[in-house]
Amino acid sequence: MNEPLQPPAVSEPAGDPAPPVARSPRLDIGHHGFPQDALPGLDYGPIDLRVFFGFPSVPAGEPKRPLELEIGSGKGTFLVQQASVQPGTDFLGIEYAGAFWRHAADRCRRRGLDNVRLLHADATVFVRNYVADHSLHRVHLYFPDPWPKKRHHKRRSFQEGFLRELHRVLEAGGELHVATDHLDYFAWMEEHAQRVSNLFERRAFVPPPSAGEGELVGTNFERKYRVEGRIFNAMVLVAR
Ligand SMILES: C[S@@+](CC[C@H](N)C(=O)[O-])C[C@H]1O[C@@H](n2cnc3c(N)ncnc32)[C@H](O)[C@@H]1O
Repeated sequence: MNEPLQPPAVSEPAGDPAPPVARSPRLDIGHHGFPQDALPGLDYGPIDLRVFFGFPSVPAGEPKRPLELEIGSGKGTFLVQQASVQPGTDFLGIEYAGAFWRHAADRCRRRGLDNVRLLHADATVFVRNYVADHSLHRVHLYFPDPWPKKRHHKRRSFQEGFLRELHRVLEAGGELHVATDHLDYFAWMEEHAQRVSNLFERRAFVPPPSAGEGELVGTNFERKYRVEGRIFNAMVLVAR
């Protein structure tokens, strides 16, 4: 019998104060939002992401549309901005805080962004169990929860084991884009990236076209803490 997906370790983000997002019944996830229980059991194996999430179909003979994944989409600001300037690419955002997930899906529906879908799930569980080898063009991980206490470091999403999983699901030359405001977490990221340097080449981070003037990415978290003068660090890992 299929097992349900394991619930995430926490249901609200650490480090980011409770969001002023509505838990209002007026939010409508439309065909943009997918609840966790829409997924098949964990033993199902890789799913065809384009079919499952109903991304725009490609006429026969035309090249496949690239698929990008964002882990921890928060309120969906990056997805809304980037999917608008990159209409030929499909974006799947995964967010495990229910209020954020609903808010982001509703935003994408209101903007009529047919190239974005939002899944309510733990991204590490999702990638490990449901994503096929070499099926992603890019993965975005912006301002992941830093889990500052040493005994919680194992909960950090950026770590060697998960980097190996991301290498498996990225196409050759595919990219992982990462940014953080947490100096200790960035040092950890550098060390863990170094451990898998046979799998990834590290490159300098270049802001996406949707970033505003002087921004690294222009996510909600970045805008909120930039005004406090926080320092941000970022890198790109390219799959060998
Ligand atoms: C600090 S917030 C940053 C949100 C957004 N990326 C931004 O920059 O505004 C981190 C987000 O990642 C989500 N998150 C953390 N770990 C996750 C996981 N394993 N799967 C899905 N979402 C996760 C949290 O719920 C939270 O919304």
